[in-house]
Amino acid sequence: MLRQAMLAVSKSGRAERVISTSPLTRDVVKRYVADDIAAVITALTRRGLLVTVDHLGEEVRDREQAGAAVREYLTLLGVLPAGADVSVKLTALGLRLSEQLAFDHAAAICRAAAGRGVTVTLDAEEHDTIRGLHAVHAALRREHPDVGVVVQAYLPDSLERCEKLGGARVRLCKGAYTAPGAYRSPGDVDRSFVRCLRVLMAGTAYPMVATHDPRLLRIASTLAVLDGRDVTGFEYQMLYGVRPEEQARLAGLGAQMRVYVPYGDDWYAYLMRRLAERPRNLAFFLRSLVSR
Ligand code: FDA
Repeated sequence: MLRQAMLAVSKSGRAERVISTSPLTRDVVKRYVADDIAAVITALTRRGLLVTVDHLGEEVRDREQAGAAVREYLTLLGVLPAGADVSVKLTALGLRLSEQLAFDHAAAICRAAAGRGVTVTLDAEEHDTIRGLHAVHAALRREHPDVGVVVQAYLPDSLERCEKLGGARVRLCKGAYTAPGAYRSPGDVDRSFVRCLRVLMAGTAYPMVATHDPRLLRIASTLAVLDGRDVTGFEYQMLYGVRPEEQARLAGLGAQMRVYVPYGDDWYAYLMRRLAERPRNLAFFLRSLVSR
């Protein structure tokens, strides 16, 4: 219930105006969003962590904003080290306006990224964008075979998706939105996650295991061993600000550990999804609003 309410708040323009203009929100934002992206990337890579960087923004409704998002990514690519990844939301590139526009914008980012030794991963968003996401991903892969895509385990067709994504870079996550027909109970989502993980680990995809869940992390490492994948055959991914000690521990063990680092002013919807994931976060956030 609370999660649904928070996700509804994440789409409310009125709540956004109130919350994002409050100076009291700043500490909470800083926990999840990089304020100096170049410094954060340097600090993480020095500690042996890989990065995927997301320029915040989504659901753009005009071509100018979509073009601005592309320009931001092209600038970002100038400061990323080889081996980094960028995470891209197709609704920031104009998917709601036209699939072709989102494709053209994503292709421009992929071309620039390839020249820098950087990969691109397409985030998964609201359920009504998933068909477009996979259509654009399939089209991009013809020229850029290493472009990755996210699969949300809460969608009942996630297993089928994984089966079709042989050879691709696939980031598997639980899913941060709501969708009609989606698995809702944590147990059902976890079971779906494990079914997908089995297919990805046993197949030809490159699995990117995006979770902070200790049980799922253990299952992933066990499956990797059983399927004969060495440390270069898959990677863990976690969000900036979430379980940083575990991120450091996995990197210290020699695993490929990639941190998803968002930056930019348009952090509202992203932050609300993080708060929705964990009621304790919400309490922390509300306390920070009233304790000043
Ligand atoms: P779960 O929510 O069960 O959390 C497990 C444990 O992790 C918690 O008990 C807590 O300790 C810690 N934790 C989790 N979230 C936390 C938070 N916000 N703050 C503090 N602690 C927290 N989703 C999507 O729909 N589309 C996408 O493209 C992506 N992309 C993506 C990339 C990467 C790298 C990650 C890690 C996640 C995503 N997600 C996503 C989000 C994902 O779907 C999911 O909502 C979150 O990862 C939380 O789920 P967990 O698997 O971590 O489990």
